Amino acid sequence: MKDHQPTGEAARLPRHIAVVMDGNGRWAEQRRMPRTAGHRAGVKAARTLIESCGRRGVHALTLFAFSSENWRRPKQEVSTLLDLMLRTLRKEASKLHENNVRIRVIGDRDRLGGTLCHQIERVEALTADNTGLQLVVAVSYGGRWDITRACQRLASRVADGSLDAEDIDEGMLNDGVALAGLPGPDLLIRTGGECRLSNFLLWQLAYAELYFTDVLWPDFTEAHLDRALTWFAGRERRFGGVPAMLDGTAGRA
Ligand code: IPE
Ligand code: IPE
Ligand code: MG
Repeated sequence: MKDHQPTGEAARLPRHIAVVMDGNGRWAEQRRMPRTAGHRAGVKAARTLIESCGRRGVHALTLFAFSSENWRRPKQEVSTLLDLMLRTLRKEASKLHENNVRIRVIGDRDRLGGTLCHQIERVEALTADNTGLQLVVAVSYGGRWDITRACQRLASRVADGSLDAEDIDEGMLNDGVALAGLPGPDLLIRTGGECRLSNFLLWQLAYAELYFTDVLWPDFTEAHLDRALTWFAGRERRFGGVPAMLDGTAGRA
């Protein structure tokens, strides 16, 4: 995972967009519908976003679908959400594959049921060689879980003597957290009006541009995406440097 942008025109389109798809429940409540109707409408908005990102040549898209903390919701809502995930993966897999989309799922699979895990493995295997949009879906995912797991792996290497603690560096953590191998997200979009990360990609978002909108997730359209992309294109990314360094070298290690 590298944090550096290419220079020139290509620098204006984020290579990797991460999205907190929030506001499904409120969307449904506004319509006096059950929250689950909002989640179903949210799937449609996700499909539109995936297609739009593919058309625009975005390299990677990471969607926050279910957080470590979402397990705290009523049992009924949790099971509806996971069931929706299962059915969506089943239904959309072949079309995404035809469109050369590679799908990966990040998060704590130990907490997911066997049927869902099996479906995730099937979709990941089916699309493993696809070179188009790199789609990542975060399910039972939390940034703290992610960093903790990466630390555990490094600690066990220290314990078995294959790694010196002093040799641990940022690159090793980068390689140990989810999304290793993809450029870090350049742009985070959160719908639903809250200005917080809710334990999403804590490590990976260190230098992302953060875009918050009041639009509720099921209402998020291609036009809203374009608004976010236009905003992003106007940002000056300094990576801790000064404007004079904006020749693409800022942020390079
Ligand atoms: C986001 O919508 C979907 C998930 C968190 C799974 P919410 O369900 O959080 O919707 P609000 O925030 O209650 O409106
Ligand atoms: C964040 O939304 C998680 C997802 C969109 C999957 P939440 O609705 O769970 O976040 P909080 O509870 O408002 O922080
Ligand atoms: Mg919410």
